[in-house]
Amino acid sequence: MTNASQQRIQVVAHRGASEEAPEHTLAAYRKAIEDGADALECDVRLTADGHLVCVHDRRINRTSNGRGAVSALELADLAALDFGSWKDPGQWRGRPEAPEWEHRPEDREATSVLTLERLLELVSDAGRRVELAVETKHPTRWAGQVEERLLRLLKRFGLDAPASPEESPVRIMSFSARSLHRVQAASPTLPTVYLMQFVSPRLRDGRLPAGVGIAGPSIRILRSHPSYVERLRRSGHRVHVWTVDDPSDVRLCAELGVDAVITNRPQAVLRQLGR
Ligand code: G3P
Ligand code: CA
Repeated sequence: MTNASQQRIQVVAHRGASEEAPEHTLAAYRKAIEDGADALECDVRLTADGHLVCVHDRRINRTSNGRGAVSALELADLAALDFGSWKDPGQWRGRPEAPEWEHRPEDREATSVLTLERLLELVSDAGRRVELAVETKHPTRWAGQVEERLLRLLKRFGLDAPASPEESPVRIMSFSARSLHRVQAASPTLPTVYLMQFVSPRLRDGRLPAGVGIAGPSIRILRSHPSYVERLRRSGHRVHVWTVDDPSDVRLCAELGVDAVITNRPQAVLRQLGR
């Protein structure tokens, strides 16, 4: 069995350093980069006027002071809203560690809606290699438009056609095999990650949908079926696990020798891994 001392596990900041700072904002991604995260995870959705924005939910109600579905709003509508103040610092009261992130309303960009384009700029300017894992959300609704716009944007940054999947700083993740197949058809060397909430019977032997190189199982799968990692590895797949926040889960992932952990607490996980 591989463990943490033999292999460096990649630490991926889920929606940024989202335990501390509001998810999917520049504030959260800047904090994750400062913390030393190896990679950033983000979800992307299309606005009514065709912009890719980093928002998890179908609607913006939970994470902003606005209401409505991302798909029904234009970028200008979203840009007028605040995506930061819902993250109440009061929630930290009574906890041992205070958040290092502080909401500063004067830094408006830090908590505005974040476009994928702006996130790509942040990563390009990081001054070190920071990888990006982009998840396509509900792509079936858009019949290929999410992937098309995503690849067009990556092309502008010279990231759509890496020499090999191993060298790519960007990877595309999805629960939808169809979405990943669209990406592969247009950009065969861009790595793809098949996200799994549970293991369907046809994938139990460790194989993934055709052409997908990386498995993205939920930590729940590993808790109940740790041997699944070995099956995935035997089938030639790397393993990126989400969402790994609990120290006992970090330990399990290290013991199983997974390749990446996706976490809301990159700083704490890096510390636990001795980095
Ligand atoms: O990184 C994969 C994970 O983000 C999938 O779940 O709901 O947080 O997007 P969700
Ligand atoms: Ca996600």
